[in-house]
Amino acid sequence: MSNEEELARVVFSQGSENPLKEEQKEQTYKVSIKKLEAWFGTKQAIKDVSLDVKENTITAIIGPSGCGKTTLIRCLNRMHEMTPSSRSRGQVIIDGIDIYDRNIDPVIIKRRIGMVFQKPNPFPTMSIYDNVAAGLKLNGVKDRQLIDEIVKESLQGAGLWDEVKNELDKPGMGLSGGQQQRLCIARALAMQPEVLLMDEPTSALDPMASSKIEELVHDLKQELTIIIVTHNMQQAARVSDYTAFMYLGELVEYGPTKKIFENPQKELTERYISGKFG
Ligand SMILES: Nc1ncnc2c1ncn2[C@@H]1O[C@H](COP(=O)(O)OP(=O)(O)OP(=O)(O)O)[C@@H](O)[C@H]1O
Ligand SMILES: [Mg+2]
Repeated sequence: MSNEEELARVVFSQGSENPLKEEQKEQTYKVSIKKLEAWFGTKQAIKDVSLDVKENTITAIIGPSGCGKTTLIRCLNRMHEMTPSSRSRGQVIIDGIDIYDRNIDPVIIKRRIGMVFQKPNPFPTMSIYDNVAAGLKLNGVKDRQLIDEIVKESLQGAGLWDEVKNELDKPGMGLSGGQQQRLCIARALAMQPEVLLMDEPTSALDPMASSKIEELVHDLKQELTIIIVTHNMQQAARVSDYTAFMYLGELVEYGPTKKIFENPQKELTERYISGKFG
């Protein structure tokens, strides 16, 4: 059994069963968002958003500040509902299963749909190694050798291994900002997610560190489906296969990145990508 299989067996044998049963899959899109709406109290932040995402692609979500980008991706791993007085309506279907189905355990959803945040947020008291291993340990993985292997693979996957392999016991907080963000990516990868959500992962980084992350995102799409929020138009154009442009909680336009940037169908999209507002 490969590491992945072993981990999947260990992780998904915990608690509730794997919600994404083979026979239930109708494998067209990896992620299908249908008529999604989300509120904070009485304020509606997402309005009737429908969006289909293919497996092993990178989708960029762009749009001016406050248009609902973060809220949208937080609805994709059931983080939105953790905000007091928030609610949502509609469907998010991942691998053919509605993640808001009442039989689904949100904890399992968060394992399968990883997230990387705007500001690198390593666990402050933990070593580099423990930052990556924490999720596994929390999920009851005890086999030290297996954890070692997954930590190494995840750090390699995040393009950080060579820089930290001799100082795994040093604090994660001792790394540079760009390294910390790659550590957070390694931490997400250690849970072997199928979808990775990234909320402006490079906005706190310098250009060198940002381009490292962009390269990494490009490589990771072999294994994962990635949805990345960015304010950086060049980044969206460089890194993504599809682009979704949002405005005031609505999805204005969605399509292949080349088309959105070179031949947008809506005037609003054209004005935004050419920097006329935002
Ligand atoms: N915790 C919250 N409580 C109340 N309203 C919120 C909360 N978080 C976001 N909002 C509101 O929801 C709307 C969408 O916010 P969101 O953070 O999703 O936008 P965004 O597109 O990610 O913006 P930015 O580019 O600045 O990160 C905004 O009007 C915002 O004020
Ligand atoms: Mg945001």
